[in-house]
Amino acid sequence: MNTIKSISHSHDELHIEWSDGRASHLAAIWLRDHCQMPQSRDPVSGQRLLNVTDIDPNISIAAASLVQDSLVQHNLAQQTLTVSFSPDQHTSVFTAQWLSEHCYCLNHQTDSRSSAFKQLWNGASFAKGLPVSPYPAFCADAKEKLTALNFVKDIGFCILTEVPCDDQQVLQVIKQFGFVRDTNYGALFEVRSKINANNLAYTHLELGCHLDNPYRDPVPGLQLLHCLASTTEGGESILQDGFMAAHILRDENRQHFDLLSKQFINFRFQDKEVDLNARAPMIEFNDHGEVIKVRFNNRSIDTIKLSPEKIRPFYTAYRHFAQILERQALQIHFKLAAGELMLFDNTRILHGRKAYSKGGIRHLQGAYSDLDGLYSTLSVLQRHASTPASASVAP
Ligand code: OGA
Ligand code: ZN
Repeated sequence: MNTIKSISHSHDELHIEWSDGRASHLAAIWLRDHCQMPQSRDPVSGQRLLNVTDIDPNISIAAASLVQDSLVQHNLAQQTLTVSFSPDQHTSVFTAQWLSEHCYCLNHQTDSRSSAFKQLWNGASFAKGLPVSPYPAFCADAKEKLTALNFVKDIGFCILTEVPCDDQQVLQVIKQFGFVRDTNYGALFEVRSKINANNLAYTHLELGCHLDNPYRDPVPGLQLLHCLASTTEGGESILQDGFMAAHILRDENRQHFDLLSKQFINFRFQDKEVDLNARAPMIEFNDHGEVIKVRFNNRSIDTIKLSPEKIRPFYTAYRHFAQILERQALQIHFKLAAGELMLFDNTRILHGRKAYSKGGIRHLQGAYSDLDGLYSTLSVLQRHASTPASASVAP
């Protein structure tokens, strides 16, 4: 286990040498801001009680010392570091364990939602089968739920099977891991062919691959489509990895990728009741240059009103991205059967469907949720999975 070998300090920095050979150089202002004492953090919630403006901009380290518990020396959990600050004369005590797990020299800020932490895929990736989870086990067994939600986190989707074909069941599924995101379509929407449909989704026509609702701010992070009946000809579902497509675009033409990630465009949906607008680029990346969101929906792009010199370059890049998304090798095609439900990341996975016959019935119920709820459930399930089951059992 990593322990503190020695410490020293300058006016504005604490130096720690760790037993594994690494070193931390921690700024006085960071140490003061991350003070874990009850004057600085609420002991119950752990939330910070001080504002950054409460900290003197010229804060410095007046003294620092390493305290070892003599009974359990060489144990990281028992090493503490006392740091006194000037001019506010505050003293903070940090455990070595907290510093090794949190300090910015040993721990880098990562973005688990970004493409760097995903398993990017194409059509050939699922030769051994799609990521599937039986819904009864998903509800009854925390391990199965962990597996299924990890599919959504890593691959971007999961298919739940044996989901009861009951009206509004899709909302019950969401309650298993998060919260329903209500929209102008209601808590859920009926995907079936109807007369005077306000959305092409509610016809028997083919739908090209898209992400839903780019006209919302924020976009719903998760979408569910639950199949209640499927006796038509056609109507196969299509899925594809938008992060993979964005990486291919970047590899094939860096300028096209840069243009689509910098150029904001308007998305819009309007009918008799609503007029929804949002403005965002088609590809978004984070401060590490990793892709974090894709927005692509040819039905929902508003009138494109870029300045004249930008129009042609925009269309060249947009067309290139759209052509990548049309490559069959990047897609998976399958037919959802009654009792199956697709759960997918609507910031990453594009979905579409083939046209279907007018004879027969095809009925899906769809609903939206958000990624933060799913990631939170995953993290709590993981926490429980790593806590030894015997901890609460008295001998
Ligand atoms: C939708 C949609 C696909 C389908 O309702 O958003 O894309 O399979 N439907 O009908
Ligand atoms: Zn859709």
